[in-house]
Amino acid sequence: MSPAPVYRKPFNKKRLLFITPEECRTIAKTYGTPVTVYDEKTLSRYTNDLLKAPHAYGLVARYAVKANINATLITFLAQRGFYFDASSHWEVARLLRYGIPGNRILLTAQEKTPTPEKMLRRGVELNATSLHQLQLYAAASRTCGRTSLSIRVNPGSSSSVQYKTNVAGGDSSFGIWHEFLTTVLAVAKRYAIRITRLHVHLSSNTDPDEWLKLIEQVLVKIVPQLPDVTHFNVGGGFAIARYTDEYQTSLHTVLGQLKRYIRDFYKKTARKLVIELEPGAYLVAHAGLLISTIDDIVITPRENQMNSSTKSTSTHSISTNSVSTNSISTNSISTNSISTNSMRHGHNHQKNAQHLPIKPHLDKTTAHNYNIFVKLNTGMNDLMRPALYGARHYMAIIKARANLNQQSAAVLQKAVSNEYFSYMTSIDAAVPVILVGHCCEKGDLLTPQANNPHCAETRTLAKLSIGDYVIITGVGAYGTSLANHYNSFPFLAECWRDSDRRIQLIRKRQTLADLTRSEINIFKPGY
Ligand SMILES: Cc1ncc(COP(=O)(O)O)c(C=O)c1O
Repeated sequence: MSPAPVYRKPFNKKRLLFITPEECRTIAKTYGTPVTVYDEKTLSRYTNDLLKAPHAYGLVARYAVKANINATLITFLAQRGFYFDASSHWEVARLLRYGIPGNRILLTAQEKTPTPEKMLRRGVELNATSLHQLQLYAAASRTCGRTSLSIRVNPGSSSSVQYKTNVAGGDSSFGIWHEFLTTVLAVAKRYAIRITRLHVHLSSNTDPDEWLKLIEQVLVKIVPQLPDVTHFNVGGGFAIARYTDEYQTSLHTVLGQLKRYIRDFYKKTARKLVIELEPGAYLVAHAGLLISTIDDIVITPRENQMNSSTKSTSTHSISTNSVSTNSISTNSISTNSISTNSMRHGHNHQKNAQHLPIKPHLDKTTAHNYNIFVKLNTGMNDLMRPALYGARHYMAIIKARANLNQQSAAVLQKAVSNEYFSYMTSIDAAVPVILVGHCCEKGDLLTPQANNPHCAETRTLAKLSIGDYVIITGVGAYGTSLANHYNSFPFLAECWRDSDRRIQLIRKRQTLADLTRSEINIFKPGY
């Protein structure tokens, strides 16, 4: 038997699915969908976890605002004593606009700030992530009478479990390479600056065992070379479980071990280091869920089924085999799948196959012959993580009951009066489906396979109909902050669920005017 995982906790769906079906329906009806809901109680649980974490000689809790920079969320954290990690001068400007004091902000940016002196005068701390930034920030510090600076170091290895979130090591441009510390000290001397903070962010979604090993090495190999360092910022990246086979960092156990390292370091060097943490995902990911509506259901034959069942006909591409939802006459699946279906039922319809309408019988044994695509009214514009990282989110279906879509479906069904109609608007059994977004991109796949993000994974959720709601959980971090306007979808609405379960709007859904506000059409409209 393998030893119990010391630094990991298993996935817990109760934490993610914090609203009741009734609340889901009420929110959807009041604010429309897609809509994101943030839960104060969940947020409090995670922020308390961080604020009460073990430490040896002091702990500064920062929040990495790139994960989610909503004004309400930031103010909530600021009121609980949080400091902030900004990744661009725009994020700094936004925080200052929200009323966050400059001295609670540390700027760790890939792109240098064009106004380092202005930032320093507002009290913002600058973290140099390259030698070029170090030189600029050191010069600005001297001009402003500041004597200390912070550097981000790339320690040479990463603790990420994923390539795309790996921001340390030789194939990553983040931070000053650890072998350039002599140059760092020479620049500091030239500008009469002390390097008082060492920052290392070892990657997002870190493996806790690896993370602890690397941090221990940084304490042995890097901190001793920087004699003025008093603050050791160990970054963020604590893994959280958003899907059934993922694990959650056991934060207090990990930080308990870090506390021992810091004490040992003190015993050896007589230097007491204050630890800084700056997680994003760990704090806010579980506190957000996205309510979307099922917009459509599209069925195609599975390619491997087509290949295996068709001997005499060539394999057509998916596009020639697609099921059209327009009318019964086009509701046929062409040659390959017809043969699949007919063979299963003991007939051979291959001669007339092109015109034969079929109604695939969907149950747990037959559904695997088809790709059942459930299209949502959200996608990679609201939630980039699946398309960008192959991320997997836990989802749940909430029946919409008598909502508009179902009513209109019923009316249509009567009018069209064909036996296929109900099949096209609902799936009567809990069968494996593929969830896709509404963007015109094949990559807008909301259920990618683990470790194979270009391919779809099926999920068996529940019986579902067009108009039902799909809750995508764990979207509080890197959801809205990565949102974009692809296909001109406006940014969604965001709500706050307070500890008494009251819902308030905290960001309005964008309008067409919001989308076009900054455009300048140099030609006169019209033809
Ligand atoms: C410098 C820095 N700090 C903190 C974070 C937050 O990481 P996470 O949201 O995984 O905790 C990031 C993420 O990219 C980062 O680059």
